[in-house]
Amino acid sequence: MCKQNGLRSADTHTFLTMAVHKILKMGDPRLFRAVLPVAEFGTDTLRQLVSDMYDTMRAAKGAGLAAPQIGVDLQVVVFGSDAPNPRYPDRPLVPATVLINPVITPIGDGEALDWEGCLSVPGLRGRVPRWSRIRYTGYDLQGNAVERDAEGFHARVVQHECDHLAGILYPMRMRDFTQFGFTEVLFPEMDPDLDD
Ligand code: NI
Repeated sequence: MCKQNGLRSADTHTFLTMAVHKILKMGDPRLFRAVLPVAEFGTDTLRQLVSDMYDTMRAAKGAGLAAPQIGVDLQVVVFGSDAPNPRYPDRPLVPATVLINPVITPIGDGEALDWEGCLSVPGLRGRVPRWSRIRYTGYDLQGNAVERDAEGFHARVVQHECDHLAGILYPMRMRDFTQFGFTEVLFPEMDPDLDD
């Protein structure tokens, strides 16, 4: 929506444009709806959506992004990176992943509490309870099954992104609002432009 540069993908000969979309902010009703599963895989439309989501996530230096955050009502999330996130330089690397129609199942009943931010809730951080260990399943762009076990930060990012597909933002998961506040107050040393 903002920047458009033509890029031709050598392997598919599909024309993909570089597109950084505007990220919807909390209050927009499109962030609070449960969205639809993808019915058709491997299409140019789906490939372009995922490409746009990566462009938008990287431009915002996010750890992940869900389709509803750019106003698309489909069950598509992207997360992770093949290089360390400047936001979380000390955290273990989460592999760059496209996950479509995801299902999350907790492994055990352990919970962990840690700080999260969200590109749709800019300037704020909160401590959010999540399952410590999960199995997630879903599909990649071509419709191949994806199945992985994850824990720690990886598990947290997946739970946060998949919540967006059910219309849930992280403050709606919080139980203690004394642990919710402005990044500049909670973490004065942190770059306030980095959200998640
Ligand atoms: Ni988010």
